[in-house]
Amino acid sequence: MSGIQKVGIVGAGQMGSGIAHVCALSGIDVVLQDLALDKVEQGLATISGNMNRQATKGIIQEADIKPALARIAASDAYENMADCDLVIESATEDETIKRKILAQLAPVVKSSAILATNTSSISITRLAASTDRPEKFIGIHFMNPVPLMELVEVVRGIATDDETYEASRKFVADIGKQITVAEDFPAFIVNRILLPMINEAIYTLYEGVGSVESIDTAMKLGANHPMGPLQLADFIGLDTCLSVMQVLYDGLADTKYRPCPLLVKYVEAGWVGRKAGRGFYDYRGETPVPTR
Ligand SMILES: NC(=O)c1ccc[n+]([C@@H]2O[C@H](COP(=O)([O-])OP(=O)(O)OC[C@H]3O[C@@H](n4cnc5c(N)ncnc54)[C@H](O)[C@@H]3O)[C@@H](O)[C@H]2O)c1
Repeated sequence: MSGIQKVGIVGAGQMGSGIAHVCALSGIDVVLQDLALDKVEQGLATISGNMNRQATKGIIQEADIKPALARIAASDAYENMADCDLVIESATEDETIKRKILAQLAPVVKSSAILATNTSSISITRLAASTDRPEKFIGIHFMNPVPLMELVEVVRGIATDDETYEASRKFVADIGKQITVAEDFPAFIVNRILLPMINEAIYTLYEGVGSVESIDTAMKLGANHPMGPLQLADFIGLDTCLSVMQVLYDGLADTKYRPCPLLVKYVEAGWVGRKAGRGFYDYRGETPVPTR
């Protein structure tokens, strides 16, 4: 084992719940926190549903579900994370929110603990600077959906020490994931490549080159992608997609990363994808219907 036996997770949304799911099934105790306990309860319900689905498919044993769920404690105060060996911040992709969380969290968590972020794009070095332990701070970037996706990107900030890096690598291996190492530049590897592709798909829609369905069909059947780029954008969350494009645009100062105005409009409407019931598709009926 990596020596990491108890993990705190801040943010019980799509990603925080997924990380809790995987940790709990690996025998690690989890403290899961969000803005309010009802949000954590929603996360726990998602975890339970997803574990049951995995058991039906024979991916996990039915008997493992109850003990795994019992390992996840719901929290509404950072004090509950005081004895965690690792705390992973996985809240909304917004630097102001993340810096505030880290500044409040760090003084409460034991000094030997590693602090990590699941950010998709924001500088690890900058986030580390809002904690009391930049040398024990690291990016551990999971992929969505966490229980299914094998990869985790590990990103060191300028100050991250070797001990933190090695312990993080070991933790990722212990929960059954594969590592890729990225340098601390905007959006790292996966999203540096993926998000401009998604943004371009949205421009293709915006400029009328194709409809939602024709763009997704083109990339599924023409480029062998498992899902279309607009479907994928809805799955990631359009708010997260916009934040990542903004980080790329600001961080690399290159107009090729300009977020598509149509993406901005969808986010302004609150149509942020599957989690909101509506994005490039409307998910409120039995089958998803394109919104354009
Ligand atoms: N969606 C993806 O595909 C994906 C993939 C990898 C990484 N990420 C990253 O994971 C993080 C979370 O993304 P998500 O998709 O789970 O978003 P989400 O919108 O599903 O969940 C974010 C959660 O953070 C909570 N939150 C906001 N402020 C908080 C605070 N102060 N304290 C505690 N909780 C707070 C929100 O209430 C919400 O439940 C982001 O940094 C995102 O970039 C997302």
